[in-house]
Amino acid sequence: MSDKPYVIDQMISAKSIAARIEELVVEIETDFAKTDKLVVVGLLRGSFVFIADLVRELSLPIEVDFLEVSSYGDSMESSREVRILKDLRGTIEDRDVLIVEDIVDTGHTMLNVTKHLMRRQPRKLRSIALLDKPSRREVDFQADYLGFEIPDEFVVGYGIDYAQRNRNLPFIGKVRFT
Ligand code: IMP
Ligand code: MG
Repeated sequence: MSDKPYVIDQMISAKSIAARIEELVVEIETDFAKTDKLVVVGLLRGSFVFIADLVRELSLPIEVDFLEVSSYGDSMESSREVRILKDLRGTIEDRDVLIVEDIVDTGHTMLNVTKHLMRRQPRKLRSIALLDKPSRREVDFQADYLGFEIPDEFVVGYGIDYAQRNRNLPFIGKVRFT
Protein backbone atom coordinates (compact mmCIF):
# COMPACT_ATOMS: atom_id res chain seq x y z
CA MET A 1 0.00 0.00 0.00
CA SER A 2 2.77 2.45 0.89
CA ASP A 3 4.35 2.71 -2.55
CA LYS A 4 1.09 3.25 -4.45
CA PRO A 5 0.80 6.83 -5.76
CA TYR A 6 -1.67 9.04 -3.96
CA VAL A 7 -2.81 12.61 -3.55
CA ILE A 8 -4.01 14.35 -0.42
CA ASP A 9 -7.33 16.19 -0.49
CA GLN A 10 -7.84 18.77 2.23
CA MET A 11 -10.59 17.80 4.66
CA ILE A 12 -10.15 20.20 7.60
CA SER A 13 -8.26 23.48 7.19
CA ALA A 14 -5.64 24.78 9.61
CA LYS A 15 -8.00 27.67 10.34
CA SER A 16 -10.90 25.36 11.26
CA ILE A 17 -8.63 23.34 13.55
CA ALA A 18 -7.45 26.49 15.33
CA ALA A 19 -11.05 27.71 15.76
CA ARG A 20 -12.17 24.34 17.15
CA ILE A 21 -9.24 24.27 19.60
CA GLU A 22 -10.32 27.66 20.96
CA GLU A 23 -13.81 26.24 21.64
CA LEU A 24 -12.47 23.10 23.29
CA VAL A 25 -10.14 25.12 25.48
CA VAL A 26 -13.11 27.02 26.91
CA GLU A 27 -14.67 23.70 27.97
CA ILE A 28 -11.41 22.36 29.41
CA GLU A 29 -10.66 25.54 31.34
CA THR A 30 -14.13 25.42 32.87
CA ASP A 31 -13.87 21.74 33.82
CA PHE A 32 -10.38 22.10 35.29
CA ALA A 33 -10.81 25.59 36.75
CA LYS A 34 -10.13 24.36 40.27
CA THR A 35 -7.10 22.30 39.39
CA ASP A 36 -3.66 23.53 40.33
CA LYS A 37 -1.80 20.65 38.77
CA LEU A 38 -3.10 19.47 35.40
CA VAL A 39 -0.86 16.98 33.62
CA VAL A 40 -1.41 17.07 29.86
CA VAL A 41 -0.27 13.75 28.39
CA GLY A 42 0.35 13.51 24.65
CA LEU A 43 0.24 10.10 22.98
CA LEU A 44 3.23 9.88 20.70
CA ARG A 45 3.70 10.41 17.95
CA GLY A 46 0.45 11.49 16.29
CA SER A 47 -0.60 14.05 18.91
CA PHE A 48 2.55 16.17 18.91
CA VAL A 49 1.18 19.02 16.79
CA PHE A 50 -2.24 18.98 18.45
CA ILE A 51 -0.82 19.07 21.98
CA ALA A 52 1.53 21.92 21.04
CA ASP A 53 -1.35 24.06 19.78
CA LEU A 54 -3.68 23.00 22.60
CA VAL A 55 -1.37 23.83 25.51
CA ARG A 56 -0.52 27.23 24.07
CA GLU A 57 -4.20 28.17 24.25
CA LEU A 58 -4.69 26.83 27.78
CA SER A 59 -4.33 29.37 30.54
CA LEU A 60 -4.17 26.85 33.36
CA PRO A 61 -1.09 25.76 35.26
CA ILE A 62 -0.03 22.61 33.44
CA GLU A 63 2.75 20.13 33.02
CA VAL A 64 3.33 18.28 29.76
CA ASP A 65 4.28 14.62 29.57
CA PHE A 66 4.31 12.01 26.81
CA LEU A 67 3.41 8.36 26.51
CA GLU A 68 4.08 6.03 23.61
CA VAL A 69 2.21 2.76 23.30
CA SER A 70 2.32 0.03 20.70
CA SER A 71 -0.56 -0.11 18.29
CA TYR A 72 -2.10 -3.54 17.88
CA GLY A 73 -4.34 -2.44 15.02
CA ASP A 74 -7.45 -4.39 14.16
CA SER A 75 -6.18 -7.71 15.50
CA MET A 76 -5.85 -6.36 19.00
CA GLU A 77 -8.07 -7.99 21.58
CA SER A 78 -9.85 -5.59 23.86
CA SER A 79 -8.76 -7.48 26.97
CA ARG A 80 -5.09 -7.26 26.06
CA GLU A 81 -2.73 -5.09 28.06
CA VAL A 82 -1.41 -1.98 26.40
CA ARG A 83 2.33 -2.20 25.72
CA ILE A 84 4.26 0.87 26.82
CA LEU A 85 7.11 1.85 24.51
CA LYS A 86 7.86 5.09 26.34
CA ASP A 87 6.38 5.69 29.75
CA LEU A 88 5.50 8.96 31.49
CA ARG A 89 8.39 10.73 33.19
CA GLY A 90 6.29 11.93 36.09
CA THR A 91 3.82 10.39 38.50
CA ILE A 92 0.09 10.99 38.02
CA GLU A 93 -1.11 9.63 41.34
CA ASP A 94 -3.63 12.03 42.85
CA ARG A 95 -3.26 14.44 39.94
CA ASP A 96 -5.65 15.71 37.27
CA VAL A 97 -4.74 14.27 33.89
CA LEU A 98 -5.79 15.06 30.32
CA ILE A 99 -4.79 12.51 27.67
CA VAL A 100 -4.33 14.00 24.20
CA GLU A 101 -4.84 11.73 21.17
CA ASP A 102 -4.91 12.39 17.44
CA ILE A 103 -7.62 9.95 16.30
CA VAL A 104 -9.99 7.52 17.94
CA ASP A 105 -10.63 4.79 15.40
CA THR A 106 -11.55 1.31 16.72
CA GLY A 107 -11.17 2.73 20.24
CA HIS A 108 -8.80 0.00 21.48
CA THR A 109 -5.83 2.31 22.02
CA MET A 110 -7.62 4.89 24.11
CA LEU A 111 -9.67 2.36 26.06
CA ASN A 112 -6.51 0.51 27.04
CA VAL A 113 -4.47 3.62 27.76
CA THR A 114 -7.26 4.94 29.96
CA LYS A 115 -7.57 1.65 31.86
CA HIS A 116 -3.81 1.48 32.28
CA LEU A 117 -3.44 5.03 33.60
CA MET A 118 -6.43 4.61 35.93
CA ARG A 119 -4.42 1.99 37.83
CA ARG A 120 -2.00 4.74 38.80
CA GLN A 121 -4.84 6.40 40.67
CA PRO A 122 -5.08 9.88 39.17
CA ARG A 123 -7.54 12.19 40.89
CA LYS A 124 -9.34 12.84 37.61
CA LEU A 125 -8.64 11.45 34.13
CA ARG A 126 -10.12 12.95 30.97
CA SER A 127 -9.30 12.59 27.29
CA ILE A 128 -9.33 14.77 24.22
CA ALA A 129 -9.13 13.57 20.63
CA LEU A 130 -8.79 15.79 17.60
CA LEU A 131 -10.61 13.32 15.34
CA ASP A 132 -13.07 10.48 15.76
CA LYS A 133 -14.23 7.88 13.25
CA PRO A 134 -17.34 6.58 15.06
CA SER A 135 -18.26 4.18 12.24
CA ARG A 136 -15.06 2.21 12.93
CA ARG A 137 -15.60 1.69 16.65
CA GLU A 138 -15.10 -1.83 18.05
CA VAL A 139 -15.11 -1.07 21.77
CA ASP A 140 -17.05 1.37 23.91
CA PHE A 141 -14.87 4.45 24.17
CA GLN A 142 -15.77 8.11 23.84
CA ALA A 143 -13.33 11.00 24.30
CA ASP A 144 -14.51 13.62 26.79
CA TYR A 145 -13.57 16.39 24.37
CA LEU A 146 -13.65 15.95 20.61
CA GLY A 147 -12.47 18.12 17.74
CA PHE A 148 -14.23 16.64 14.72
CA GLU A 149 -16.15 13.53 13.75
CA ILE A 150 -14.97 12.29 10.36
CA PRO A 151 -16.09 9.54 7.97
CA ASP A 152 -14.12 6.31 7.50
CA GLU A 153 -11.28 7.83 5.47
CA PHE A 154 -7.54 7.50 5.96
CA VAL A 155 -6.31 10.92 7.00
CA VAL A 156 -2.90 12.59 7.36
CA GLY A 157 -1.41 15.90 8.43
CA TYR A 158 -1.32 17.99 11.59
CA GLY A 159 0.88 15.36 13.22
CA ILE A 160 -0.82 12.33 11.68
CA ASP A 161 1.14 10.14 9.31
CA TYR A 162 0.79 7.70 6.49
CA ALA A 163 3.86 5.41 6.61
CA GLN A 164 5.60 8.08 8.73
CA ARG A 165 5.05 10.80 6.14
CA ASN A 166 2.86 13.89 5.91
CA ARG A 167 2.93 14.71 9.63
CA ASN A 168 4.11 18.21 8.77
CA LEU A 169 1.06 19.24 6.73
CA PRO A 170 -0.67 22.11 8.56
CA PHE A 171 -4.17 20.77 7.73
CA ILE A 172 -5.98 17.41 7.88
CA GLY A 173 -6.24 15.77 4.49
CA LYS A 174 -7.53 12.47 3.21
CA VAL A 175 -5.39 10.08 1.26
CA ARG A 176 -6.73 9.29 -2.21
CA PHE A 177 -4.95 6.68 -4.32
CA THR A 178 -4.56 7.66 -7.94
P1 IMP B 1 -7.55 2.73 17.50
O1 IMP B 1 -6.89 1.95 18.58
O2 IMP B 1 -8.09 1.84 16.41
O3 IMP B 1 -8.61 3.68 17.98
O4 IMP B 1 -6.40 3.49 16.80
C1 IMP B 1 -6.11 4.77 16.90
C2 IMP B 1 -4.77 5.00 16.23
O5 IMP B 1 -4.73 4.46 14.90
C3 IMP B 1 -4.51 6.47 16.10
O6 IMP B 1 -3.81 6.97 17.20
C4 IMP B 1 -3.65 6.50 14.85
O7 IMP B 1 -2.31 6.29 15.20
C5 IMP B 1 -4.09 5.34 14.03
N1 IMP B 1 -5.02 5.79 12.97
C6 IMP B 1 -6.35 5.57 12.92
N2 IMP B 1 -6.89 6.14 11.84
C7 IMP B 1 -5.88 6.73 11.18
C8 IMP B 1 -5.81 7.51 9.97
O8 IMP B 1 -6.81 7.77 9.27
N3 IMP B 1 -4.59 7.98 9.63
C9 IMP B 1 -3.47 7.72 10.36
N4 IMP B 1 -3.48 7.02 11.49
C10 IMP B 1 -4.68 6.51 11.90
MG1 MG C 1 -1.72 6.99 17.35
